[in-house]
Amino acid sequence: MNAFASGAGRAPAALLGCLLSLAIVAPPPALGDVKGLSKMGFGKTKDGEAVDLYTLRNGKITVKVATYGATVVAIEAPDRDGKVADVTLGFDSLDGYLGEHPYFGATVGRVANRIAKGKFTLDGEAYSLAINNPPNTLHGGVKGFNRVVWKAEPVDSPEGPAVKMTYTSKDGEEGYPGTLTTAVTFTVTADDALKIDYAATTDKATPLNLSNHAYFNLGGDTDSSILDHELTLAASKYTPVDDTLIPTGAIDPVEGTPLDFRKATAIGARIAELEGEPGGYDHNVVLDSKGGSLAFAARVYDPKTGRVVEMSTTEPGVQFYSGNFLDGSNVGKKGRVYKKHHGLCLEAQHFPDSIHHANFPDSVLRPGETYKQTTVYKFSAR
Ligand code: GLA
Repeated sequence: MNAFASGAGRAPAALLGCLLSLAIVAPPPALGDVKGLSKMGFGKTKDGEAVDLYTLRNGKITVKVATYGATVVAIEAPDRDGKVADVTLGFDSLDGYLGEHPYFGATVGRVANRIAKGKFTLDGEAYSLAINNPPNTLHGGVKGFNRVVWKAEPVDSPEGPAVKMTYTSKDGEEGYPGTLTTAVTFTVTADDALKIDYAATTDKATPLNLSNHAYFNLGGDTDSSILDHELTLAASKYTPVDDTLIPTGAIDPVEGTPLDFRKATAIGARIAELEGEPGGYDHNVVLDSKGGSLAFAARVYDPKTGRVVEMSTTEPGVQFYSGNFLDGSNVGKKGRVYKKHHGLCLEAQHFPDSIHHANFPDSVLRPGETYKQTTVYKFSAR
């Protein structure tokens, strides 16, 4: 597992027991007691499950998160003139999220990104997963963590309004081993950041890779592409892939390739140099920080509005995806048609298909360990 996974045996047992019982016994605060946090009904799933939409306000930003898919539905941030706009792609109502869409704002898991041929062997046992992105498995399968209703509770955090969403994925769900208990906490901090903290435990070894699939367009409500946004990535290396987007296993320098974003560069500047269909960026970069502790990973700047999003993460990799598969088939917020390159994703992650690559950071969580992941998206304008 990553450097953040910890063996439960390390703290003195009595202290640990005491902390655990406090965590279990202490009831969550009442919604009204958490400043900047509110909740409204967001409708029902086709099975009649109620979905809530939480709004978190702090500093200059407002974030909305739905319990369906633990989905970031909106991030409203000011531009350089103070004009506030929603900088994420998605839908105005739950119906959009229940329909077909490419993971707008969703929490993805149990394993974000691809597993080659939907098969893996762990501790001598072979497992088969759904092939939902032929010939591979993508983002947790047919009914991944983006397609389930999460439980939610307010959190009184000193950092700002927060909501903790939890989901228990049963042994065998989507073909994965072990019952996995997952918590994702969304906090909006006073310095205009959305912080996402993930935690998980399992009763059987399982591959695990949790991420968020927010699509950003810092232009806000405008109907434009992200090709003029300038990107910086704190990554000198990347993992080259085959034509089904599965890593070959190599870890190559970005130098001399269109993936060299070590200096801020417009996303569109070299995009035509990338081969393949539908064309564009859909690559895992290897962060120089190597993961393990929270470190700067990426910055996106929109010269038109001056908006900036700066991403930090504890993960070793980021999938930079330039919305290549957006094809106008999703009509989103305010009737906006999402066309190719109208949004970009920066998905903090372990490298794709890690389960098949011993040279990649380990993505297996074992009983007794706690998976932890933190990713922060901080907004500003200049
Ligand atoms: C990830 C993948 C892409 C694509 C999108 C969703 O970013 O790497 O290939 O599947 O999700 O469309």
